[in-house]
Amino acid sequence: MKAQSLVHALRDTAYLDGIDVGAYLDLVREQHPQLYAELDFGRDGAQQALASLAQVFNEFETDDRDNGRGDSYRRAQQNIAVRMTGIRRLFELAGGVQDVRDLPPTWRILDLLAGDGLLTRALRVLAPQVRDGVISSDIARTMVTAALAAGLPAIRQDARFLFIRSTTMDAVILAYGSHHVPSDDRTTVFQEAARVLRPGGRFVVHDFEEGSPSARWFSEAVHRHSAAGHPYRHFTAEELRRGLGAAGLRGIRVHRVYDPFIMRAATREDAAGQLADYMHDMYGLCGLDRGDATRETVRARVWHLCEECFCFGPHDGGADHTDTWPRHPAVYRVGGQWVAEIPRIALVGVGEK
Ligand SMILES: C[S@@+](CC[C@H](N)C(=O)[O-])C[C@H]1O[C@@H](n2cnc3c(N)ncnc32)[C@H](O)[C@@H]1O
Repeated sequence: MKAQSLVHALRDTAYLDGIDVGAYLDLVREQHPQLYAELDFGRDGAQQALASLAQVFNEFETDDRDNGRGDSYRRAQQNIAVRMTGIRRLFELAGGVQDVRDLPPTWRILDLLAGDGLLTRALRVLAPQVRDGVISSDIARTMVTAALAAGLPAIRQDARFLFIRSTTMDAVILAYGSHHVPSDDRTTVFQEAARVLRPGGRFVVHDFEEGSPSARWFSEAVHRHSAAGHPYRHFTAEELRRGLGAAGLRGIRVHRVYDPFIMRAATREDAAGQLADYMHDMYGLCGLDRGDATRETVRARVWHLCEECFCFGPHDGGADHTDTWPRHPAVYRVGGQWVAEIPRIALVGVGEK
């Protein structure tokens, strides 16, 4: 079937809640014409990919089911400042620039695990010249619906099969959840990312190193205390290098990037307490609410877990700014403000097409 007629045939296929493919295409044509020009629902395999999407309901949809944390996750992400340090560095690596403010205004980047568009909202603050350059892409209906409702260019698709034309993107980011892609499917995702990159474009893969304190948080805290658990394998540096190479990318580098959680507030108690709330909501740590725990008790439990997991040795990481970051969660004063900081080091691979 020709691509055009395939798209026509797919128009009635369910896509987002109450929105079929045709309604989605009409909305994007009207509100995000550049994204519309980059879409390709006529690719071979699109029909099957849409049928598979219809079966997906993951832990990031809602809090309503026994295994969900979607609503609380989105609530936490309303604060775009907490993870800004690491996000800024990812954009710089993706753009090949020293400073995010040097990114060109026409920059196009696809965020493959976008949630409800945190990275898009962050880039609007970090580099306002790149207006709506980030396309938010996610497999979860509610995440994509929330991004579209906020006026962001967004698409629902599995990172393993993209409804995006080849050689259209300056950069692709797979971040803050790459471990959710099963090990056997990671090469497919890397190859899809490479396909949509234009020559010279960069693919950035962010995750956490197997066996590191950053990965320990997921096995010791999230797996034990969230409703869905967290039975996912993280990455090794070698796996990142191999995957990027298998996708045909070159100039491959693996970085250790400082990627902390930081909360600022007027008092010590507020800074630490609000950061504990953020961690509780983002990771759905409902197991810590057991008994008739007060808000203060839950906050203390979250903070204690963070202290147990995010504990780095003097030589850990080789990350950016190695000399300045705290080796364990800390609350300190800067000027008139209190800062709560939970250190974390991400493993980040970059390859160029
Ligand atoms: C931890 S969230 C990250 C969201 C956002 N980037 C952030 O930093 O807050 C991971 C996201 O990846 C999405 N996801 C998981 N597997 C996916 C896949 N195979 N394709 C596309 N999205 C996927 C989930 O639905 C979820 O929204």
